[in-house]
Amino acid sequence: MPLDAAPQPPAILVENLCVRFERRGQPEISAVNGVSFSLDRGKVLTILGESGSGKSVSLKALMGLLPPFARVSGRIEIAGRDILKLPASKLAQVRGGEISMIFQEPMSALDPVYTIGQQIAETIVQHEGTDQSTAMARARQLLERVAIPSAARRLKNYPHEMSGGMRQRAMIALALACNPSVLLADEPTTALDVTVQIQILMLLRELQQDLGMAIVFVTHDVGVAAEISDRMAVMYAGRFVETGTVREVMHEARHPYTAGLLSSTVHGGLRNQGELRTIPGSPPSLAALPPGCHFMPRCREAVSRCASEPPVVVPNPGAMVRCVHAEAQHPAGGAPA
Ligand SMILES: Nc1ncnc2c1ncn2[C@@H]1O[C@H](COP(=O)(O)OP(=O)(O)OP(=O)(O)O)[C@@H](O)[C@H]1O
Ligand SMILES: [Mg+2]
Repeated sequence: MPLDAAPQPPAILVENLCVRFERRGQPEISAVNGVSFSLDRGKVLTILGESGSGKSVSLKALMGLLPPFARVSGRIEIAGRDILKLPASKLAQVRGGEISMIFQEPMSALDPVYTIGQQIAETIVQHEGTDQSTAMARARQLLERVAIPSAARRLKNYPHEMSGGMRQRAMIALALACNPSVLLADEPTTALDVTVQIQILMLLRELQQDLGMAIVFVTHDVGVAAEISDRMAVMYAGRFVETGTVREVMHEARHPYTAGLLSSTVHGGLRNQGELRTIPGSPPSLAALPPGCHFMPRCREAVSRCASEPPVVVPNPGAMVRCVHAEAQHPAGGAPA
């Protein structure tokens, strides 16, 4: 890169993302409470957290897929553009074009009444204005790209005519139809059997390397997270409590919640519903979040200072811990990573 070249903005930058659900006659729910991160092209950020911590709501907020009673605030930049400031027509182009999403259950993204080919081609026509036959040829290439055998024949299949693994691949092809620079993947392999899970993960890693996408990946599976990510974020009660590289988060966890979560997963996984084995109690109600550190009521290391808002400690650039104990080790503090 020439010395005077302007630095590239991150593929995605999220600052202080908050989501509140406000429905008349019901308590207000603070599902996401100030999530911030940035991710460059070609990198994978994995978000780990217990059920209900706000992972899916965060991704849906980025995609604009929340119901109208959801109040979304904060800043979302895609390749340097603040998308919440765009007019509705431009916003629709960005969402589904530059940023797209794959879900745990492909049937929530695929339409049962159209063939796979029609759905992918339609997306290409809408976003790129190409003619139908060019779009169908691209759709076929995309099915080949995600390793669907007999792609020409599969274009004519309806979603219900495919196996679970095939449908997941078809959904990935649909998400890739507009060459997104950012791909959001919400537990994309949980519903699949183990062999197919591994194939899909390898495919995602390969696509991310070849196409240089930034991927935000949500999973309950720590092994999967370690395999696929460059960076990790641990979410609790709508906030990131720790972020860092895979090594920092998995092997040098600084937040007591991260440490407890990881040792629980060694003993049976986060899907082992109910209490985590190594952390007593359950997450707080998002309708009545306690003041101070939200993890305090369950934390073995809690001290009186935890009743106040925890410091945001930055042990090194790109890493972040919200905990008074981390402050003792890294007194500088700073802004969220
Ligand atoms: N449409 C909605 N209306 C009201 N509350 C909602 C809505 N969608 C989600 N929530 C609440 O927001 C909180 C976060 O939900 P979210 O689906 O993001 O959790 P999650 O971390 O993805 O959990 P899981 O691991 O089980 O998928 C939950 O308490 C949930 O009940
Ligand atoms: Mg979820």
